[in-house]
Amino acid sequence: MIALLQCSACHALGDSGLRPLSALVKKLGLKEQTSAEAFIDAIGAYPYMPPFVGTPEEKKALGLYLTTLAK
Ligand code: HEC
Repeated sequence: MIALLQCSACHALGDSGLRPLSALVKKLGLKEQTSAEAFIDAIGAYPYMPPFVGTPEEKKALGLYLTTLAK
């Protein structure tokens, strides 16, 4: 899973632990696939996060995954 490789070094994928992704995507309200993908496009603009690297299909899959965490 792409989030496991590119996000889990710095984020827990569950509800607890190190900077849990579910809480962060809820805070940003990434409930729609389009907003999740827009966030992924902008991720390199954060000084502390590396830009997303992947194919358009992988970006879609990650966006979908983030929306499931946000709900
Ligand atoms: C090198 C470490 C690192 C990696 C890799 C990383 N992040 Fe982060 N991320 C951070 C840090 C540090 C923060 C700030 C945490 C905070 O505000 O509590 C953050 C914040 C966030 C936020 C909240 C942004 C905001 O505006 O508050 C989201 C959502 C997020 N990361 C998603 C991701 C996703 C999705 C990936 C994988 C594609 C990822 N991160 C990869 C370190 C990382």
